[in-house]
Amino acid sequence: RRTFRWAWRFTYLSVLGVLGYTGYIIYLDRNPAEQLERDPNKKTLVVLGTGWGSVALLKKLDTENYNVVVVSPRNYFLFTPLLPSCTTGTIEHRSIMEPVRAILRHKRGAVQFYEAEASSIDHERKVVKITDNSEIKGAVVENEIPYDMLVVGVGAENATFGIPGVRENSCFLKEIGDAQRIRKKIMDCVETAAFKDQKDDEINRLMHMVVVGGGPTGVEFAGELQDFFEEDIKKLVPEISPRFKVTLIEALPNVLPSFSKQLIDYTENTLREEKIDIKTKTMVKKVTSETVEAEVVKPDGTKERVVIPYGLLVWATGNAVRPIVKDLMSRIPAQKDSRRGLAVNEYLVVQGTRDIWAIGDCAVAGYAPTAQVAAQEGNFLGSLFNNMAKTESHENRIHELSSQMNLQAGGTPPAEAAQEIEALERRLKKIRDIKPFRYTHQGSMAYIGSEKAVADVSWWNGNFASGGSMTYLFWRSAYLSMCFSTRNRVLVVLDWLKSKAFGRDISRE
Ligand code: FAD
Ligand code: NAI
Repeated sequence: RRTFRWAWRFTYLSVLGVLGYTGYIIYLDRNPAEQLERDPNKKTLVVLGTGWGSVALLKKLDTENYNVVVVSPRNYFLFTPLLPSCTTGTIEHRSIMEPVRAILRHKRGAVQFYEAEASSIDHERKVVKITDNSEIKGAVVENEIPYDMLVVGVGAENATFGIPGVRENSCFLKEIGDAQRIRKKIMDCVETAAFKDQKDDEINRLMHMVVVGGGPTGVEFAGELQDFFEEDIKKLVPEISPRFKVTLIEALPNVLPSFSKQLIDYTENTLREEKIDIKTKTMVKKVTSETVEAEVVKPDGTKERVVIPYGLLVWATGNAVRPIVKDLMSRIPAQKDSRRGLAVNEYLVVQGTRDIWAIGDCAVAGYAPTAQVAAQEGNFLGSLFNNMAKTESHENRIHELSSQMNLQAGGTPPAEAAQEIEALERRLKKIRDIKPFRYTHQGSMAYIGSEKAVADVSWWNGNFASGGSMTYLFWRSAYLSMCFSTRNRVLVVLDWLKSKAFGRDISRE
């Protein structure tokens, strides 16, 4: 009884502590401190993009040291790992978006943000051309921003490999708008299939959801879709539910090629148990408004052409270089052999340039195009720029003190000046000793449906592979802890609870 009372007190105090702490964080969030005004006399640092790389950089950067300007067509940061959950309404899209102006408002030094697309970079004149491509246009839609330092963090676009019909007929899964489009289309297919006296073949086609690309995006989406069907659509639209089918098409012999063999097998078995049809060694060659045409490599090595009718087609075959990056690469001779993005050196400086850095999916630094890499690169550049600013300020002070001593012009007494110079030089030595960027892989995780996940986690000097329901809990807590803000975290938890308790909202907006 006594133990019970103590346990109760402990729980009560813990809950109170968590609530108090959350309240305090929310208060700080809502009441940011005054900011230092921008100083146009300082070096202008232009940052392109508000994705994983750029936001990690902005988080780390002491913005009072530079005249910082951020340009992005998206005025928010998107937490992409939970994007597949938005396609079915497990999570509402705004829960994984963080307004960039809110992020910038919490910096000590004010930052200028322009919602615009950088359309070209002139590295010789050191200017970026920006264009307002939003729906509402003002009198000025194009302008130029001069820079002293430029960070390119524009990410990548969807790869289609020039396959005919892909752009016109498929949905992608990269941006928030893509997830919203998919969510609407799933329900459109279901409602159209349930239309009075709908034809048999047409029901089969409409209820066939095809996912092309067995990388993590395709697998996670297929898992979410099957969950949506099993947990909600089946109950609410039972008359057509036996016809619902998810097919995952992959050109390689297996899905999730970047994971360990053990997890690949586990994933494929789990997906099959979930009744997802996995078609490996199948390469899509053409897409029309109602069918996918693919080449299948048969066990005897011969090839066969198949036509697969679909209602919804989601295309997830990886990344391609954005036009602005291609354009910059074409202007720099040192980039002529680079194919997948801007080749950078170990300090992330774009090869062939002096004051341009590239991070994330648009940079080729020898790592996979993941959020983990982008965030670590952004963080590294933030520290690098902070150090560069410190170096400059220390050098200026040393110069000032030395001049005073040489001219015997008053100010700091010579003995103190000499001491200060010595201390500054020691600090400078430390700052200048900056190590090149080195990526630390913390592991890969993917949700595979039916409340199971797979994880290849780096553990001390080894690797730890696991799959199943416990891994799913680990997946959830890891992503929850990685969400950008407390607001995001609270909203995601509430969405999880809401969809579990009341089911996903199947209304088609
Ligand atoms: P992004 O985050 O894509 O940001 C690019 C930014 O540049 C955006 O703000 C964009 O609007 C802006 N931009 C685009 N064009 C221009 C322009 N012309 N001018 C100015 N700005 C521009 N990785 C993981 O490590 N773990 C995961 O679980 C994971 N899950 C994922 C799930 C999905 C569905 C997807 C699509 C990706 C996932 N990734 C994951 C990969 C990860 O999202 C990317 O590697 C990461 O977003 C790359 O960061 P980035 O900063 O380079 O680009
Ligand atoms: P991906 O490049 O990882 O996978 C694309 C897949 O599509 C490949 O396996 C490829 O063989 C296949 N493919 C290409 N063309 C095809 C065709 N014509 N027909 C059939 N299959 C075809 O792409 P994805 O999944 O979009 O991921 C992009 C990046 O984002 C990767 O680096 C990935 O690691 C990262 N990411 C990580 C996640 C995680 O860690 N949970 C989740 C989502 C993405």
